Amino acid sequence: MIEKEPDKKIIEKIIFLFNKKKYLEALDLSDKITNEYPNSILINNITGVIHTELKNYTLAKNLFNKVVNLNPKYNDGFYNLANIYNKLGEEDNAIKNYEKVIELDKSYYKAYNNLGNIFRKRNLNKKALEYYILTLNINPNYIRGYYNLAGVLQHYIFDEKNKYINKFFLYLLEKKIIVRPNAIATNVINGLFLNTNLKDNFSLVENNIYPKNLNKIIEGLNDNKLLLQFMKVCPIPNYYFEKNFIKIRNEILNQIYNLNFEKIYLKFLVALSSQCFLNEYVYTETDEEIFKVNKINERIRSNFNTNEINDLEILILSCYAPLYSFDWCKKLNPSNELEEIFILQYKNHIKEKKHIQKIRTVKEINDSISIKVKNQYEENPYPRWTNLGLSIEPRNIKEVIEEINLDIDLKKINFSKNVEILIAGCGTGQHAITTASKYKNAEIFALDLSFNSLAYAKRKAEELNCKNINFIQGDLLDLRKLNKKFDIIESVGVLHHMADPLLGLETLTDCLNEDSLMLIGLYSEQARKNIANIRQVINNLKIKTTKKNIINFRKNIFENNNPKWESIKYSPDFYSTSGVRDLLFHVQEHRFTIQKIREYIKKLKLFFLGFEDTNVIANFKKSYNEPTDLYNLNKWESFEKNNSRIFSGMYQFWCKKN
Ligand SMILES: C[S@@+](CC[C@H](N)C(=O)[O-])C[C@H]1O[C@@H](n2cnc3c(N)ncnc32)[C@H](O)[C@@H]1O
Repeated sequence: MIEKEPDKKIIEKIIFLFNKKKYLEALDLSDKITNEYPNSILINNITGVIHTELKNYTLAKNLFNKVVNLNPKYNDGFYNLANIYNKLGEEDNAIKNYEKVIELDKSYYKAYNNLGNIFRKRNLNKKALEYYILTLNINPNYIRGYYNLAGVLQHYIFDEKNKYINKFFLYLLEKKIIVRPNAIATNVINGLFLNTNLKDNFSLVENNIYPKNLNKIIEGLNDNKLLLQFMKVCPIPNYYFEKNFIKIRNEILNQIYNLNFEKIYLKFLVALSSQCFLNEYVYTETDEEIFKVNKINERIRSNFNTNEINDLEILILSCYAPLYSFDWCKKLNPSNELEEIFILQYKNHIKEKKHIQKIRTVKEINDSISIKVKNQYEENPYPRWTNLGLSIEPRNIKEVIEEINLDIDLKKINFSKNVEILIAGCGTGQHAITTASKYKNAEIFALDLSFNSLAYAKRKAEELNCKNINFIQGDLLDLRKLNKKFDIIESVGVLHHMADPLLGLETLTDCLNEDSLMLIGLYSEQARKNIANIRQVINNLKIKTTKKNIINFRKNIFENNNPKWESIKYSPDFYSTSGVRDLLFHVQEHRFTIQKIREYIKKLKLFFLGFEDTNVIANFKKSYNEPTDLYNLNKWESFEKNNSRIFSGMYQFWCKKN
């Protein structure tokens, strides 16, 4: 029997207090009303929600159970009950109740989403993906659904036809802060081949109907929104795409050189120009192409004041070299069609040059290896990125650390209210901006050797309205000069590029507060075996690090089909100039073993707290399931022996002063 509900105004008052986070006052009032209306669905439900917020999960569970017994058609009640079971770790009960919600209301998208989360936790990625797709089909504006979808796509390759998935890929690639495009690139490539006519278009490029059918090919590609967006956000890590783009670029160049200005080239060329800029012009080019590019450049220069330049001439040149490298560019008044490329390849460059003037310096660099490393990253700032995956909302430091599950008693740790975080070797800012989005009340200090990398980082931080980062130029060896101690220090992918990584780590350790935490990322010897072999070949052949040599060496790897070198083609870094340089031509690279990490930790009196990567940890737990195993480096050592690629994303571990 359903009893009369209390006055609407009282319910509103409780909700008001709840929304103001005055949970105890809200509870006080709701308890009073419950005495008068013990079988009110609304009151019992709200009281359950308040108890949930206060982490009184068992009380909340009892109340929600009461609610659904009072009204077995009340879907919100079943949803709340499912959430509580989920929090209590009773996943089977949670699933049952989410399914009940869906039975009552097929459009209850959050129930599908939460089921997706449970399946994901259980490593049932395909099922999780299906549930996120259902969620987003019902509510395409549900941002959390996209974050979850992106999360699953980073660890699962989906290779089936699906009529919905491409529109979600497009959304993910259009948004600046949900996911790094590289992380979902393989899935997007599958989506393009399976769910669009890209293969047919590329086969026209490959067979001898080409070049007669150029316009037909371009029309097909212009209709492929996902492809064009993909080309604008990351170097596409696939040689088949590259080969086709090289041919198409060449054929469009021929047409434009011969003054055949077809309007349909515009849209595709904007995407191709972005792609070439992002991969830093890593595609091979023939002497004939260079000749034609030079001729068009001369044509533009001599017609510059006569308005007889066609946008297509400018665009095709920007597919071979960045606009800022052409002397006439600063006088260019771009049309609407050119605006996007003008910003990407000229305005951003000018902005970065201005930022350099304002970046603070610690002191001049004198370490000879640091000077060489600096030069490398001044010439090729790395990584060059467009979008990245930020946290949905910042949380306090303890909440973040709790989730990583470190070997640490958080109660004993006293972080200052406003945490100060150092990112040592921040590169082009991806790392610093990601960390800045994670923590509440954080001030970030981001240091790097390279002015050009810092300027890139500063421009991107501004673009993303990220205001709490101070960019500083200098060698991390000189950090003591800052006279500062930090609550967290993160240095990923940096120490192994120093002459003496131990000295680097010692300097960082000196800049820690007593309770501070440090995240370190180092290359693994085992995971990089193949890369080390290729580096050895480059050294033996004494190949100098020039752009031309990088391009030719890459070409040989693609053309020789040497199975030993096969795996390098799967590295996204192999598809941009700075990436190849970082991967294979770095001026300084050390690689580590767990044994060596153990030695460093001992020498510097540090304490190992655990690894960072949740995916690596989930894999480890399949073989080692004692909770303390996670913090036992001997166990990790054995694990790596049997899983040699497990640390291909580096050893990323947390530590603190002992
Ligand atoms: C591979 S990038 C990694 C960048 C960043 N941590 C990330 O994960 O995106 C390495 C960066 O470390 C910087 N670096 C190397 N040695 C350094 C040193 N001694 N002091 C400061 N920065 C250094 C380089 O300039 C370069 O930008």
